[in-house]
Amino acid sequence: MSYKIAVLAGDGIGPEIVAQARKVIEAIAEKYKHQIEYTEALVGAVAIDEVGNPYPDDTHEICMNSDAVLFGAIGHPKFDNDPSAKVRPEQGLLAMRQKLGLYANLRPVNTFKSLIHKSPLKTELVDGADFMCIRELTGGIYFGRPQGRSEDGQTAYDTCVYAVEEIERIVRLGFEFAGKRRKRLTIVDKANVLATSRLWRETAQRIEPEYPEIEVEYMFVDNAAMQIITWPKRFDVMVTENMFGDILTDEASVISGSMGMLPSASIGVNTSVFEPIHGSYPQAAGKNIANPCATVLSAAMMFEYAFGMMKEGALIRKAVDEALEAGVVTEDIADGKKAYSTDQVGDWLADFVKNYSL
Ligand code: IPM
Ligand code: MN
Repeated sequence: MSYKIAVLAGDGIGPEIVAQARKVIEAIAEKYKHQIEYTEALVGAVAIDEVGNPYPDDTHEICMNSDAVLFGAIGHPKFDNDPSAKVRPEQGLLAMRQKLGLYANLRPVNTFKSLIHKSPLKTELVDGADFMCIRELTGGIYFGRPQGRSEDGQTAYDTCVYAVEEIERIVRLGFEFAGKRRKRLTIVDKANVLATSRLWRETAQRIEPEYPEIEVEYMFVDNAAMQIITWPKRFDVMVTENMFGDILTDEASVISGSMGMLPSASIGVNTSVFEPIHGSYPQAAGKNIANPCATVLSAAMMFEYAFGMMKEGALIRKAVDEALEAGVVTEDIADGKKAYSTDQVGDWLADFVKNYSL
C-alpha cells in the first residue's frame, strides 16, 4: 500500500527538524516495504513572504489529498514585534485546523529516564508520570463568533460556543483512549461558571454509561492546573475544551523537562497533522543545533494514528530512547557533554531503525 504525506516544514528550525523525521520515515519505509509519497507545501511566515497567505489554497489542497501531514513549526519574530501586521503566521495554523477539521489535539505527557533531572519538578513527583491530554481544537472561544470590538473601540468581546456533537465526538475519543490505557478519564471544565462547560459535563455524563469499564472524574480547570504539577501521576487521559487545553498542555509540558522531546497529533475529519509542540526557535534556525526528537516522535504518532502501524511507531520510539541512552543528543539536553548536530542525531536514528529488529 502507498501512503501520501504532505510535508509542511514552515519557519525557523522547521525545515531542519522535518528533514530528520523524513530520514527516519524513509528508513522505516525501506525496512517494512511501505511506499511513501511526499509532497512539500508552504505554510507560515515563508508562505506569507512567497504568496501573501500563511495557509495558501494550494497547501490546503495538498493536505486534503494526503493521508497525513508532517508539520514543522511556524512563527517569525518580525511578526511578533509588529502589532500592526494584518497577516500573521499563526492565522495559518488556525485556518489549517478549521479547514482540515482537526478536532482533536493529542499531547502525550511522559518522562524520559535520562532527562528526568531536567524537569523543574521533583523527580519523585514526575518519575512515571504518563498521561494523554486531549484538547478540542476547532471550537470554543478560538472560533466562536461574534468576536471583535465595539464601534468606539472601548469594548472587546470573544464568544465561547460548543455544540453537543462537537463535545460528544471528543469525549468519545477520550473514552476510547482511556479504554486502551489505564481506564481513567478526567473531564476538565469550569461547569460552576460557564454554560458551555455545563453542556460538556451533561454530554459526558450521558455518554458515561456506554463505557462502564472507564472510571470517570470531572474536574474544574483551576483545580486541574494545580493537580498537574502537584500530582501528575494521578492522570491517565484528560479531555478538555480548546483554550483550557492550550493552557494546560503548556503547563504539562514542563513535566518531561524538555520541550524538544514532545510530539503531538491533531486528528482530523479529512486528514491528520503531526507536529512537535515546540515553536520555530528562530535563534537556532540554520545552525544545525535544534533537537529533532519531538518531530521524529511525531512521525511515530503518524505511523500509529494515521496508518495504524504500531510496530513502526514502536521502533521509532525505541530509536529515540536508545539515542538518549547513548548520549547522541543535541545541545539542549547534552548537559555539558558532547553535543551532536541535528543532522547527526537524525542520521543516528535512521541507522538505528535500519539495523534494529523489534
Ligand atoms: C498551540 C499554540 C497555538 C494555539 C497558537 C500559536 C495559535 O499556542 O498550538 O498550542 O493557541 O493553539
Ligand atoms: Mn499553545
